[in-house]
Amino acid sequence: MLTAKDLRQKYLDFFKSKGHAIIPSAPLVPENDPTTLFINSGMHPLVPYLMGEKHPLGKRLVDAQKCIRTGDIDEVGDTTHHTFFEMLGNWSLGDYFKKEALEWSWEFLTSEEWLGLDKKRLASSVFEGDTDASFDEEAHSVWLNIGMPEKKIAKLPKKNNWWGPAGVTGPCGPDSEMFYWVGDLDKVPDSFNDDNDLWVEIWNDVFMEFNKNEKGEYGKLAAQNVDTGMGLERVLAALNGFDDNYRTELFWPIIEKVEELSGKKYDESKDVKRAMRIIADHIKASVFIIADGVEPSNTERGYVLRRLIRRAITQGHILSIKNNFTIEIAKVIQGMYGEAYLEVLSGKVLNVLEEEENKFRKTMEQGLKILEGKKRITGKEAFDLFQTYGFPIELTREFIEGIDHTLTLEEKVEISDDFSEELKKHQELSRTASAGMFKGGLSDTKEKTTELHTVAHLMLAGLRKVLGENVHQKGSNINGERIRFDFSHPDKMTDEQKKAVEDFVNEAIESKTEVLMAEMTPDEAKNIGAEGEFGHKYGERVKVYSIGEYSREICGGPHIKNTSEIQGKFRIQKEESSSAGVRRIKAVVE
Ligand code: ALA
Repeated sequence: MLTAKDLRQKYLDFFKSKGHAIIPSAPLVPENDPTTLFINSGMHPLVPYLMGEKHPLGKRLVDAQKCIRTGDIDEVGDTTHHTFFEMLGNWSLGDYFKKEALEWSWEFLTSEEWLGLDKKRLASSVFEGDTDASFDEEAHSVWLNIGMPEKKIAKLPKKNNWWGPAGVTGPCGPDSEMFYWVGDLDKVPDSFNDDNDLWVEIWNDVFMEFNKNEKGEYGKLAAQNVDTGMGLERVLAALNGFDDNYRTELFWPIIEKVEELSGKKYDESKDVKRAMRIIADHIKASVFIIADGVEPSNTERGYVLRRLIRRAITQGHILSIKNNFTIEIAKVIQGMYGEAYLEVLSGKVLNVLEEEENKFRKTMEQGLKILEGKKRITGKEAFDLFQTYGFPIELTREFIEGIDHTLTLEEKVEISDDFSEELKKHQELSRTASAGMFKGGLSDTKEKTTELHTVAHLMLAGLRKVLGENVHQKGSNINGERIRFDFSHPDKMTDEQKKAVEDFVNEAIESKTEVLMAEMTPDEAKNIGAEGEFGHKYGERVKVYSIGEYSREICGGPHIKNTSEIQGKFRIQKEESSSAGVRRIKAVVE
């Protein structure tokens, strides 16, 4: 059986023998790219060098890089998706190109001296071409020369055979992927089929000669580079004949610990398997994230970390683990990874996990107390538990299933379970926010506008509270400086009324309340009392932004993540008539 340590070492040694310098893994928190929260691939920390900067160790590099991909979080629980994984990669910085890259990949995979894989089990793919770049004839003919049967070289579109950029902009290009047949040897098809799960992608060689700019256009880079990536977990599983990554030594010791703590067996049911995989994946990712200096919080990286830890604890609860357990799991992970990644041994890892688990268990207790003794709970109650206490929907659902099997609420409970949506939202927001680090003034304005957009929601809620439920939004215009806002109301506002609305908004700002988003149908939005444009025709699903008990409104976003981000005090500068029955407010935060 091939071990993870062997596979890592063989990869590094092979490319060293081809003149590559071995470089250490960069930290998970990007140093060069403020457009993303975490390093998501081997090339990510190398972007400046792919863009032309000189690397001190030369033009050929190889490493094992730790990566986090939060975009896959919803898939975690199946056999192959992880938020944390290691990527083995080799790079040419304006040195060798397609021929050497593909030939060496083939040699490493098939030579008896290295992995010695059966050639019959391998297939590949190349970029078929479109308006941005032409068919990759060169890669195709390299594969033919290597001896790959033509039918096993698939020609695929950008969706499959283009990689990058790692962030919003940057180096990218067409790629050539390699696939390994994990089914029976005598059943290997004579052509490659993208839809067949028995073909597992094991390696990706990207030919990076393009740069995607902010307008989405592809320009040529100064140099032709190679970026390759081999996912350690999945390759290890494929090569050892496992159809489940969690059965490899990169996960199995963690699963065994969860079995011990829960008294349940991994193979006992689909649900138990799923819960154990989520715990194993999320705590592993959390250990690495904390080791690189991040602490749980309500924004950006800290928010992702908090969600990972809390989701793992929730799954632990579902497995009937009633006491603190995350540090027990973390200790196993430290034992597994301490040699390859010294930083995970930091004492901070256990302290941060224990503290967050204590905090979250209090929240769980509060929520469970509210649920206790109830025969039924409504979708709105479930939603409020989540909004007000951050009480996990998974637990509410478990509770409902325990007392009432009619499950009519299932759908409504589902609505706020959109974990990945929230994470995506956070990523987008952080991208928007941090893009400002490059663009200065321009995106400062963008950030300020997002902030005032959230203030406008609070203001509308305040107006409805002070002037009555007949107040609805009639139009708005928001820029980095001020809010202009039209609303239905017959009379001029008194000074007292204006003051009351200002107080309402300022109280919400001071309360440091989280802004949460959930997707649902327009009817469900109405049921939970969300404010929307009457008579407006919505699509099948709408986004509802909630700011604690202050405001709940249908809106496309974007919004800030917490009212504490609002810099200053809210003030109504002017209130005047706009048209018959419609008033106009100009307001600022200063
Ligand atoms: N950067 C490429 C990937 O992540 C190799 O697949």
